[in-house]
Amino acid sequence: MSSNSVNWKELLRHYEATVDLSLHKRFDSDPERAKKLGFECGDLWVDVAKQKVDTETIDLLFDLAEEQGVTSFFHSMSFGEVVNLSEARPALHTFLRRPLSEESGKDLRSISENINETFNRMSELAEKIKSKQLLGFSGKVINSVINLGIGGSHLGPFMAFEALQDYVNPEIEMRWSSGLDAADLDNALQGLDPESTIVIICSKTFSTSETISAANRVLNWLSSNGVSDPTTQVFAATASPEKALSFGVVQENIFSFSESVGGRFSLASPVALGLMISIGCKNFEEMLDGMNIIDRHVLEVTRNIPMLLGLIDVWNNSIIGTNSLAIVPYSYRLRYFPSHLQQLMMESLGKSVSSEGESLKTKSGVAVFGASGTDAQHSFFQMLHQGTETIPVDLIGFARLSNETSQELIANLIAQAETLAFGQDTDEKGIPLLPHKILPGDKPSTVILAPDLSPSILGQLVALYEHRTVSAGVVLGINPFDQWGVEFGKQAAKEIANELQSSKIDTNRDDSTQTLMKRYSHWRDGKP
Ligand code: F6P
Repeated sequence: MSSNSVNWKELLRHYEATVDLSLHKRFDSDPERAKKLGFECGDLWVDVAKQKVDTETIDLLFDLAEEQGVTSFFHSMSFGEVVNLSEARPALHTFLRRPLSEESGKDLRSISENINETFNRMSELAEKIKSKQLLGFSGKVINSVINLGIGGSHLGPFMAFEALQDYVNPEIEMRWSSGLDAADLDNALQGLDPESTIVIICSKTFSTSETISAANRVLNWLSSNGVSDPTTQVFAATASPEKALSFGVVQENIFSFSESVGGRFSLASPVALGLMISIGCKNFEEMLDGMNIIDRHVLEVTRNIPMLLGLIDVWNNSIIGTNSLAIVPYSYRLRYFPSHLQQLMMESLGKSVSSEGESLKTKSGVAVFGASGTDAQHSFFQMLHQGTETIPVDLIGFARLSNETSQELIANLIAQAETLAFGQDTDEKGIPLLPHKILPGDKPSTVILAPDLSPSILGQLVALYEHRTVSAGVVLGINPFDQWGVEFGKQAAKEIANELQSSKIDTNRDDSTQTLMKRYSHWRDGKP
């Protein structure tokens, strides 16, 4: 977006005119504020009344979205058009959860038929394991899964697995390993019987060194523990089936998907095969249906809620000037949601060049962090309340969790939203507090409430943030679907590893790097 856009200038003028309006004043001056700034989105309730916006702000933000073509972008995306310009690809993640009946047009239908065919194969495998029909090399029933992947090939599926623990099949032992550190994999393999375990190698490119290294370690673990032919126990979820084949995965054990599905947008893809095996096909389909509810909301409602949240992110980050976003789910089961969103939002929006190749004139994405509810209150909420930096926070809560603490959790969530917004400057007797005890308030938050944490609700939350992120990217004029910034680091790591292995350090490297490499080699070789 060029900063000389008419609507952008309007927004800046509006900001100057309203910046001194505290949340206190905004609520006092409009008794209808909560009603005007609370919205239903699928089965979710989204309250932005405690954000530093008014209905006029929202009108101007949607005008900006219209000017930047956000609505037409989503329609192009839904028709499979090229929207990922730097990789000349469409973005097909919503096709993964769209019923075949919704398809129009021959080309789109063939994409969806492939997706449905793969989904059916995934379901067959899941059912076979559930009914104890899948046998390992030595004839033992398969009852354990080790899932290998990193980034989008781990964070989403693992987050969903933990979020949906109330739905997992206790007869199937599901383990996850994502890192390069062998301790991670060793921990995941602890206590598993190699003859009853399958491994799912999740990698869109099937070339991510951490995942391939872990896959080779698992093959060694299988072969050195009696599984002399692991063929039937090794599976792959990838957009590079030919690489999986050359790695040694047999065709019938490969579940492929389009390279036009972004890693951080791939929760509905075969990388979630382990999740489907664990929670079962019905619950997995319910999650997809939940995602589709929000996908349709975005296409059917012009001023839709995911877009509104993305616009408020632009308002906070690029106009008010905040530098981070806290995500705080008041649910133990959803404690990994911030990690998933960290990749989704920071890998999508952490860019400084527009889709047209121009340096951005406005700030783009911000640092995303978070933790589950009351843990976060005993960790970083001090800074949210009294820090010099304004940090917007999303507070996510559930009316019914599968235990008796729901009410206490919701009470904490609501209390935090209230205190962040309105602060506290007197004690319970009305006596003014000393400066270091004053809570200034006027801290923005969005509250998202859901009736429960079901597969559908989880799907709705994930899709809400996916579309929120894409909306913000389009408004900012950046491509939310590529990640060129992380490609070079992979290559550099390989070169440095080779130099460390051969102890031939490239003297063209800077002194600091050379010193680090020498210091490591010194200690590695046991020298004092
Ligand atoms: O972090 C870079 C990245 O390419 C992510 O976008 C992706 O989710 C992750 O690495 C893993 O990639 P793959 O699924 O190809 O192994």
